[in-house]
Amino acid sequence: MQQYATLNASKANFDNIYDQPDPRGYFSVLGALDYMIPDVAEPVIRQILRAREKRLGRPPAVLDVGCSYGINAAVHRFPLSFRRLRLRYANSDMAAVEPEELARLDRSYYGSWPQTGTARFIGLDISAPAVRYAVSVGLLEAGVIANLESGEPRREDRQSLRRADVVLSTGCVGYVTERTFAAILDATERPPWVVSFVLRMFPYEAIAATLAERGLVTEKLAGATFVQRRFRDLKEFGNCLATLEKLGIDTNGLEAEGRFQAELFVSRPRADALAAPLGTIVTVVSGRNRTVGTRYVRVGRGADAQVVRVPS
Ligand SMILES: C[S@@+](CC[C@H](N)C(=O)[O-])C[C@H]1O[C@@H](n2cnc3c(N)ncnc32)[C@H](O)[C@@H]1O
Repeated sequence: MQQYATLNASKANFDNIYDQPDPRGYFSVLGALDYMIPDVAEPVIRQILRAREKRLGRPPAVLDVGCSYGINAAVHRFPLSFRRLRLRYANSDMAAVEPEELARLDRSYYGSWPQTGTARFIGLDISAPAVRYAVSVGLLEAGVIANLESGEPRREDRQSLRRADVVLSTGCVGYVTERTFAAILDATERPPWVVSFVLRMFPYEAIAATLAERGLVTEKLAGATFVQRRFRDLKEFGNCLATLEKLGIDTNGLEAEGRFQAELFVSRPRADALAAPLGTIVTVVSGRNRTVGTRYVRVGRGADAQVVRVPS
């Protein structure tokens, strides 16, 4: 979509941190801008995945579009957050190790946490090093390195795309358009649920129309926005506010306070949407990311429930 290319011009460019051999640059640069969408989206994603699991009768396979270093998988599958991972990589001893050594350490690190989510993750990203890292440390079960904006999925990648029960994205619409969603939907075995956290500057209509052609109805979660990060500088702030206002979007109380805001769109087969409208499966809890002290978290349900202590 030509419109996204124009809109993207108002955002700062971070391409150089997306294709490093490990996530240290990603966490350092975006962490310094309070990047938080994986953390604020996580409880909502968990609720949607639970609803998807209920409908399927088994844990869903999630295709994370623009998966980068597997962060959505990390925060869903383990009692971790973007903020916590950022601190891990900010350690000066951690900054000194070679990428291969870091991948080895990270593999043990992720392997040492109890599982907090049942979903399995497959990742899709244009960045080969990011996908390879996420697979090598065990965050992703499979990775697809592809740009579906400009080409068809390879035959071997179709096998991975085929399994997707949920197509998830945070921070990626804008880089990807309806073309990527069309290619994914045409490769899946059954109609997936599509869960997209989308900056308000990127109109979602063309994607929703593409999904509708493939039998999915789109709902937007009313009355909630999700902070993605702070604007990098005055230039990005000014450009984005002007872009949003040109689109007729009122930024008062939202972007005008200095932070990018995303909205949630969920597309599903009509029968699934009618059985459980979005507003009935998602509750947004304000303030959950503000606690800094130790918390107790119950993992699992019923007889299998375990309580874990999550340090600050
Ligand atoms: C802002 S990051 C978001 C990463 C992750 N979802 C998160 O929220 O932390 C955007 C990601 O989109 C990826 N990307 C850019 N263009 C893409 C494309 N055409 N297809 C798939 N991924 C793309 C980048 O490589 C990068 O990993």
